[in-house]
Amino acid sequence: MKIIKSDLHAIAVGPKQYPQDELPEIAFAGRSNVGKSSFINSMLNRVNLARTSGKPGKTRTINFYIINDEFRFVDLPGYGYAQVSKTEKEKWGHIIEEYLKNRKNLKEIALIVDIRHEPTSQDVMMYNWIKSFGYSGIVIATKADKISKGQWQKNIKQIRNKLGVESSNLILPYSSEKKINVEKTWEIFEEILDL
Ligand code: GTP
Ligand code: MG
Repeated sequence: MKIIKSDLHAIAVGPKQYPQDELPEIAFAGRSNVGKSSFINSMLNRVNLARTSGKPGKTRTINFYIINDEFRFVDLPGYGYAQVSKTEKEKWGHIIEEYLKNRKNLKEIALIVDIRHEPTSQDVMMYNWIKSFGYSGIVIATKADKISKGQWQKNIKQIRNKLGVESSNLILPYSSEKKINVEKTWEIFEEILDL
């Protein structure tokens, strides 16, 4: 994939603020601090387009990034962050749900998980939810640089079993830090976006 340009297009907490055009979108869901924003940056070859942080709870809005004026990546707020109030959690849940339920532009939601850890019950819920909307259920197991290559398959298998990922083609190890599987991920996305 040749990235000619990438920009922040919109920041939204509700549908009125979503971009009002027909461009296709791929959204990224996952636990807070799992590496969603870093994933977007690494795919776009940008250092800090999507703001990242060592502390969970960085992305609290829906951030739309436009790429080559052709399609968008959508950074969703992370879930499962313990250090916020119940009201705040419900607000985030609502922001995400509203987007997923009604967005015609949305072609796929990829679930981002940490390759080192077994998915949480919230991950399982999110994944089932994604599939219930009819999306194919792509899983990106990021932070692969944090374990040895020899461990990847074992961990991938565990994640796959826990989430119930139908095909091994739908889950892949990834690293934003070391740019592992960037090209492979683009191939999958190009197919989804019909590029
Ligand atoms: P929220 O916005 O809070 O939901 O978090 P997020 O999922 O967007 O995570 P973010 O991209 O901000 O990354 C969280 C932390 O993980 C940062 O300190 C990143 O540097 C680190 N990180 C993300 N991806 C990788 C990776 O592939 N490898 C390593 N080693 N660290 C990573
Ligand atoms: Mg983020």
